[in-house]
Amino acid sequence: MMKLETEFNIPRISDHFLPESEAVLFHGNCLDLLQQLPDKSVQLVVTSPPYNIGKAYEKKLSLEMYVKQQTEVIAECVRVLADKGSICWQVGNHVDDGVIIPLDSLLFPIFYNLGMVMRNRIIWHFEHGLHCSRRLSGRYETIIWFTRDTKDYVFNLDPVRVPQKYPGKKYFKGPKVGQYSCNPLGKNPGDVWDIPNVKSNHVEKTEHPCQFPVELVERLILSMSNKDDWVLDPFLGSGSSVVAAIRHGRRGMGADTVARYIEIARERTRSSMSGSLRVRPMGTPKYDPRAAGNKLTISPWANAPDEHQLKLLQTTAVYKP
Ligand SMILES: C[S@@+](CC[C@H](N)C(=O)[O-])C[C@H]1O[C@@H](n2cnc3c(N)ncnc32)[C@H](O)[C@@H]1O
Repeated sequence: MMKLETEFNIPRISDHFLPESEAVLFHGNCLDLLQQLPDKSVQLVVTSPPYNIGKAYEKKLSLEMYVKQQTEVIAECVRVLADKGSICWQVGNHVDDGVIIPLDSLLFPIFYNLGMVMRNRIIWHFEHGLHCSRRLSGRYETIIWFTRDTKDYVFNLDPVRVPQKYPGKKYFKGPKVGQYSCNPLGKNPGDVWDIPNVKSNHVEKTEHPCQFPVELVERLILSMSNKDDWVLDPFLGSGSSVVAAIRHGRRGMGADTVARYIEIARERTRSSMSGSLRVRPMGTPKYDPRAAGNKLTISPWANAPDEHQLKLLQTTAVYKP
């Protein structure tokens, strides 16, 4: 591949689909990029589409119109998907005046009607976000993972295994007694992922208002694609999916209608290619402020006298709610 690039001057990063390039960053509507792609040419589609909640980059549509637009994009993604490929749609809630509609339930029928089958509904849990006062604060989003209706789809478990809780555990009876009972490569990470979201002090933060963490996409890329495969993100934003693809020897492409986001994605893709992009490495333990000795974790209220506690010689409790 590198030889071809020098001999024929093929850019490593192209602004339109070029099968020999390593990355495609398309400025414009994703449907126009999708149109350039041959049938079954993409191994993994991974994206976080607009949630139709009135962010800076989106015009709020009626839900019917939103679903119609998503249907057009999803149908094209299914067309370009390789036989053994996967589609991962990462979504949260559409929120209107305090009423929520979980987007995955709204979008599931689109995939189902296109003949796709669901393999997992991954819960992505994080700790930071808006504090609600009339309902519980939202602290998870989902990734709905679909493949074609076949048993023969790519799923590599080993690269995404995580350490066991008790790796030293051994069989205590039976023919394997004394041997370690768990896989030395680690365990299946499960379908609930606790990964910090990209807020202001995260190393990956750019000016994009809702990036997903590179680590989140890396797990999907490692398990659902192989080296040199194409990974497509139709709603690319700051380029996290392409960056994750490049980091693992895949090829990445995506589209965004906002020129500034494509510029950011290009900058991050270049840094990823040169190995200088700062990311939160996969598997980094979550920051624990108590364990780190952060003084702010000591509550100023902890030692306040308990009003409900009976005093010495007091016999009648006075309950003040
Ligand atoms: C939720 S953000 C994606 C963020 C991305 N996952 C990241 O890590 O930066 C959705 C993006 O879709 C873009 N977008 C909206 N409609 C689009 C369309 N029709 N074609 C391409 N991009 C679009 C928006 O500009 C926005 O950057």
